[in-house]
Amino acid sequence: MKKTIRDFELKGKRVLIRVDFNVPLDKGLNITDDTRIRASLPTIQYALDQGAKVILMSHLGRPEGRPVSSMSLSPVAKRLSELLGREVAQCSDCVGARVKEELKGLDGSGSVALLENLRFNPNEEKNDANFAKALAEHGDVYIDDAFGSSHRAHASIEGVTRYLPSGAGFLLEKEIRYLGETLQNPRKPFAAILGGSKVSDKIRVVENLLAKVDKILIGGAMAYTFLRVQGVNIGNSKYEKERLDVARAILQKAQEKKVEILLPVDHLTVPKVDENAPTKIEGPFISEGRLGVDIGPRTIELFGRALDSAKTVVWNGPMGIFEMKLFSKGSYAIAEKLSQLKEAVTIIGGGDTAACVTSFGFEGKMSHLSTGGGASLEYLEGKTLPGIAALQDK
Ligand code: 3PG
Repeated sequence: MKKTIRDFELKGKRVLIRVDFNVPLDKGLNITDDTRIRASLPTIQYALDQGAKVILMSHLGRPEGRPVSSMSLSPVAKRLSELLGREVAQCSDCVGARVKEELKGLDGSGSVALLENLRFNPNEEKNDANFAKALAEHGDVYIDDAFGSSHRAHASIEGVTRYLPSGAGFLLEKEIRYLGETLQNPRKPFAAILGGSKVSDKIRVVENLLAKVDKILIGGAMAYTFLRVQGVNIGNSKYEKERLDVARAILQKAQEKKVEILLPVDHLTVPKVDENAPTKIEGPFISEGRLGVDIGPRTIELFGRALDSAKTVVWNGPMGIFEMKLFSKGSYAIAEKLSQLKEAVTIIGGGDTAACVTSFGFEGKMSHLSTGGGASLEYLEGKTLPGIAALQDK
């Protein structure tokens, strides 16, 4: 068990919090999805309520170790200030004498500062010890609330923990509870739903889950690689030729472990990926010259029935090209189904899947929506995440 923010006396302390404010920005540098900022508010608010001074740090984008004005955290400071209803001081950099002066200039407890993008400095990604030490000098206690970055052994995530007492924020604690503990000891039956475009992205997830789940429902383009192995004619659907052996081995292993694998039995097909293309429901075979872009109605029914009795469900990867409304029915149906499972713990992987569930308005109906894309995948693969491992044990 890792220490959490509750384990520290914060009154009058400087609390250095690593958050993941790597949010999407449009061309005008407006934040298009502030989920990650809102997700860290409970931790920030708690530290403030305890009488701490809060110093926040994050990366944004991949500026490759040099300042890039379009990746400044200024828009984030502004949004955070609106959400907190108090001023957020935006620092000019993340380390150095000037930043120290800026932080010193802040009022005592109750003040909030946001350091500038950590990745403007090449030492962040190198996990440089001196840089980590310089960051640590800004705080008395270090709290990690950046689940989305916890798979990165960077200075603000791993290195810094060598110089300060450390623990998890509420967001990180919740991610560990759902992605870690619930999946380690799932209530049965346990079903996994996997989708997205590539088998290669999910191989290790499937291998890890095969030891734990009762069934795996596979949709999205990755299903076509599996169908192809089974000799199903998939027309011009996207599949991974070089992963056919892997898919075959997974099917074999599932059989040995008595894990049921459900694949689509029908599909929404088009001649090309275009919202105006004429659609057709086909199944189980797809005709030459057409490709599958979503699961079909019989598959929706099949998957829905398979989920009826589930007590734990984890979903990673959409069922079709959900960004295009015409091809989003399958993903919508799965999201709706999960929202109706009153007895089940429903865990949604971050990135595309979380965006998909949110776009349908079901985000409040799930037990947990992860804020980590790559991090949640690595967690589902059963990997130890450096950002979590580095924190102090209770
Ligand atoms: C994410 O968006 O997945 C995290 O913020 C990590 O970003 P990175 O992949 O650039 O390290």
